[in-house]
Amino acid sequence: MIKPHGSEQLRPLYVDDAAVIEEAEGLPALLLNSAAAANAVMLGAGYFTPLSGYMNIADAMSVADNMYTTESLFWPVPILNRTHDISSIQGAERIALRDPNVAGNPVLAVQQVAAIEILSDEQLQHMTAKVFHSSSTDHPGVQTFQGLGKYVISGPIQVLNYSYFATEFPDTFRTAVQIREQIKRNGWQKVVAFQTRNPMHRAHEELCKMALEILAADGVLIHMLLGKLKPGDIPADVRDAAIRKMVELYFPKNTALITGYGFDMLYAGPREAVLHAVFRQNCGCSHLIVGRDHAGVGSFYGPFDAQTIFDEEVPAGALAIEIFKADNTAYSRKLDRVVMMRDAPDHTPEDFVNLSGTKVRELLSAGKELPLEFARPEVAHILMDYYQKQSP
Ligand code: ADX
Repeated sequence: MIKPHGSEQLRPLYVDDAAVIEEAEGLPALLLNSAAAANAVMLGAGYFTPLSGYMNIADAMSVADNMYTTESLFWPVPILNRTHDISSIQGAERIALRDPNVAGNPVLAVQQVAAIEILSDEQLQHMTAKVFHSSSTDHPGVQTFQGLGKYVISGPIQVLNYSYFATEFPDTFRTAVQIREQIKRNGWQKVVAFQTRNPMHRAHEELCKMALEILAADGVLIHMLLGKLKPGDIPADVRDAAIRKMVELYFPKNTALITGYGFDMLYAGPREAVLHAVFRQNCGCSHLIVGRDHAGVGSFYGPFDAQTIFDEEVPAGALAIEIFKADNTAYSRKLDRVVMMRDAPDHTPEDFVNLSGTKVRELLSAGKELPLEFARPEVAHILMDYYQKQSP
């Protein structure tokens, strides 16, 4: 199986240690923001191997600038614990990190404080522009990132649990360790990962099937984001149900693993696509599907920027995982099936029905039926049901 990123072995930061749990209750505590909590969950689950905790400003700036830490580890996105207020942890060496997303704010992790630094406005603007390729506060990821606070608390962590992901999504949330074990049990060698934050429409389904066939892969890891999204995106439990139904009815048996990871969407387009590649390598996947506007939002990124970054900015050898570049995928009225546009050179634009998550959400929120070109009827049913319950 493919090796983890920057390490011979996965390095999950989860600890099952009664002494640490007991110690945590007596430590000075910091209430995390959701982004820092999601980072802790990813670190705990081994997805962010080989990191040992939160970055300091020098590493975060270096990562933003050239996708390498100061110690020459390839890494595409700063992994930070930022806050507005450090009064509760002044002078402390070890602190308890409390979970903002679970009632009662239980301790999620314990951090050894290496440094508390102040991020200047200039540094924040610079980092934002590099990571998001935008400084517009109309960008939901930029808006969140800009508001996380000026204090940067760096240092290694020990993670005590997987927040609400393990409890709310027991059948779907999996750690990188568990995914590697499952892939091994299945005897799969070549595994293609599919990132998604949407219920799977027809283009998603066909992309997975095309990648399986073209790569002659043993299986596809359908790996959905279970964390926070921008308003209007479809909640994880509904997506999960829709995806499970689609795989059950329309995929050959034993070709797909349906799993999820606990992270908030950054909407950082190309940089997030590279992060996606890093943590799918950590899951044991040999390939990652990157299609149109991967991890994008609105028109902040060109449709294939998340593919070109792998050719133009990711140095050769920095990652072992390979990218399966998918062209715009649409329903062909001429052929009556979903195709990649590059495979249908004789088509005119009118021959295609464009398929996108945004379009699916638009139709559903207008109370319209999802046509067969867009979604499998059983999937459409689950989604329409959800939208009907939402409408006043
Ligand atoms: S993402 O933000 O998680 O990337 P989404 O769930 O919509 O969004 O997409 C999952 C994957 O499918 C991404 O790689 C995306 O580029 C790809 N994709 C979605 N729709 C299409 C399409 N119509 N044509 C080509 N690729 C697509």
